[in-house]
Amino acid sequence: MSEPAPTHGTRTVVSPAKTLFGVDAVEQVGEYASRHGETVLVVASEEIFDIHGDGVVETIERAGVETAIYTDVRPDPTVENVEEAHAVYEQEGCDAIVTLGGGSSIDVGKSVGVLATNEGTIREYGVDKAGYEAVPEPIPPLIAVNTTAGTGSETTRTAVLTDESTSTKFIVVSENMVPTVAIEDPELTRSLPKSHTAFTGIDAFTHAIEAFTSVKSFSVTDGYARDAMARTVDALPVAWANGDNIEARTEMMIAQFKAGKAFGNSSVALVHGMARPLGAQLHIPHGLANGLILPYVVEFNHAAAPEKYAEVARLLGVADESDGTRQAAAAASEGVEGLCEEISLVDYLDDFGEVPDRETYLDAVPKMTQDAFDSGSPDNNPRKPTREELEALFVRVYDDALAPDSRRRS
Ligand SMILES: [Fe+2]
Repeated sequence: MSEPAPTHGTRTVVSPAKTLFGVDAVEQVGEYASRHGETVLVVASEEIFDIHGDGVVETIERAGVETAIYTDVRPDPTVENVEEAHAVYEQEGCDAIVTLGGGSSIDVGKSVGVLATNEGTIREYGVDKAGYEAVPEPIPPLIAVNTTAGTGSETTRTAVLTDESTSTKFIVVSENMVPTVAIEDPELTRSLPKSHTAFTGIDAFTHAIEAFTSVKSFSVTDGYARDAMARTVDALPVAWANGDNIEARTEMMIAQFKAGKAFGNSSVALVHGMARPLGAQLHIPHGLANGLILPYVVEFNHAAAPEKYAEVARLLGVADESDGTRQAAAAASEGVEGLCEEISLVDYLDDFGEVPDRETYLDAVPKMTQDAFDSGSPDNNPRKPTREELEALFVRVYDDALAPDSRRRS
């Protein structure tokens, strides 16, 4: 076996206390809300609340639970979002939280929970300031109704937030902020447009591949990651091409959950370290940033974890058992890029975000590089980049995938 068994010290695997899978699982949100609270704060974006909000609130209230509602969650949620939602939580005397949405809403919900039971501001709990596991008290009960597939945030101890005062993303990571209940109803992902099916699907795939090759990977999380990758390779192109295919939507819901279990316990690595500052710079969705970066990091990494990347390449169908380990590993980046191409990922740059000219981008590379290092994620990478190597990777992303006349865009 190539992956280390957890024999060298104890490893923790966190998980929601309960996870409900399947079509119509959302109908149980009221029952679970009533088990955990008397007045719940419902946290959502306006867009998602417009689609699913009335039904979810009605189900909760029918179970005898009062609701307070916060619907201003942004796609890249901010410190301000957390503070506003927390103010509603306190004003309305809430004792539990229901998030409705994907990672953005879940991360705001977790962060509101941190403020509900702990002192100080959410920024103070960022890993860059306080380190990992710095939240002293458990958050109140949190029921995450997931509507994407996805960030996997409903199963992790992580929240990603944007500090608008410095235009940087930061993460809060604590076992004390894992949701109590996760509701994974694939029917809710039917409303995801193709673009966000692509973004969230590649995000999930990136979680799996990064967890699989992370220096923190071990046998338990490798199992989740392998299964998540295999399901994504098969189901993501189908779910993207036909969003009404409920089997493919279900497969992606399971894949993203398992990918969440994988990275939530073995960490993401360099791709996410780079994607946060790149996303902030270009104002592009997180999953799109991941998909832009992923092939280059896989290429950069493959020689450092050849057996793992060979397995990835075989899963992606760009190598088989007749290929040697190193040869197969070298093909992994091509396989990853192929998956992105199948769902036209890079084409979404035409409609999302703004690519600056090369000079402006190059000016931003040193700060993006610093932000990537500061996130701590590159420390989990199988190959540790030097500053020069990381800067070169950012430049490569621009020249090969971002520039309007670049290879991947033309
Ligand atoms: Fe992610």
